[in-house]
Amino acid sequence: MWYLFKMLSFILIFGTTHGTFQNRRPVNPEANMNISQIISYWGYPDEEYDITTEDGYILGLYRIPYGKTNSDNSSAQRLVVYLQHGLLTSASSWISNLPNSSLGFLLADAGYDVWMGNSRGTTWSRKHLYLETNSKEFWAFSKVVFTFVTFSTIPKIAERIKIFFALAPVFSIKYSKSPLIKMAYNWKSVIKTTSPLYNVANMNVSTATWSGESDLLADPEDVNILLPEIRNHIYHKTISYYNHIDFLFGLDVYHQVYHEIIDIIQGNL
Ligand SMILES: *[C@@H]1O[C@H](CO)[C@@H](O)[C@H](O)[C@H]1NC(C)=O
Ligand SMILES: *[C@@H]1O[C@H](CO)[C@@H](O)[C@H](O)[C@H]1NC(C)=O
Ligand SMILES: *[C@@H]1O[C@H](CO)[C@@H](O)[C@H](O)[C@H]1NC(C)=O
Ligand SMILES: *[C@@H]1O[C@H](CO)[C@@H](O)[C@H](O)[C@H]1NC(C)=O
Repeated sequence: MWYLFKMLSFILIFGTTHGTFQNRRPVNPEANMNISQIISYWGYPDEEYDITTEDGYILGLYRIPYGKTNSDNSSAQRLVVYLQHGLLTSASSWISNLPNSSLGFLLADAGYDVWMGNSRGTTWSRKHLYLETNSKEFWAFSKVVFTFVTFSTIPKIAERIKIFFALAPVFSIKYSKSPLIKMAYNWKSVIKTTSPLYNVANMNVSTATWSGESDLLADPEDVNILLPEIRNHIYHKTISYYNHIDFLFGLDVYHQVYHEIIDIIQGNL
């Protein structure tokens, strides 16, 4: 599946859960839909794939091959943008808002071929070739998958990526104030290494970062340790009032972040 990374790729790192914000009523019709259904509910083309990993996990991969504003030439070759969610979320993060504030839809409308991955164990990746999801073995993987690790340790992947966009990147958790991280920290099997978690200086991919000064998970102190380590840092913005979840659901996230991402891809920023 490396071809996904051929042209352009973004990986974004989040670490929040959003179910807690739902009101009981009125019920949004999307509440009971799966990812493909939400994509088509808004009138976008959707594709769904199962990807089997070397160790047998079956991961749900979703695609919006083109947008509504450029559907007249649906077979045109488009740059690939790959969106990867972070801790405790799933690919639904990219399509949960109105299309004008959801990164998945915005990128499709901006002319890109959007792919959205789901980490093992998330709602859309709970299948395995031979393990049951209620078995201990199924869950015996490291819950924290850091993309910076992949890029700094597997050059073959890094080579295929034009720009890496990191939103609220989690690099070390030394200063994290998230209760969840603090709790996880006590389970040695979940998070071992305090800081830093990997050697970012080995990563050569052009990187743009956005961070929030009110982020409890990707704490500003941890981010300050990360930033000078990024070798090929092309853009950085700090948003004083952003917490972790605002990078997905902030009312002004289009103006503060998504619009800049599209501008950077298009070479305008
Ligand atoms: C999502 O819903 C559609 C329509 O009911 C169905 O075809 C598809 O298999 C579902 N996908 C998943 C992952 O459940
Ligand atoms: C559609 O895209 C294809 C492939 O990129 C291109 O060759 C063709 O000229 C495009 N057609 C129109 C009408 O833009
Ligand atoms: C998105 O659309 C809604 C409804 O039309 C509108 O109220 C909102 O201001 C729009 N947001 C952006 C970022 O354009
Ligand atoms: C890093 O990128 C630069 C510029 O693209 C390139 O010249 C250099 O060889 C790369 N270094 C490594 C270790 O990949």
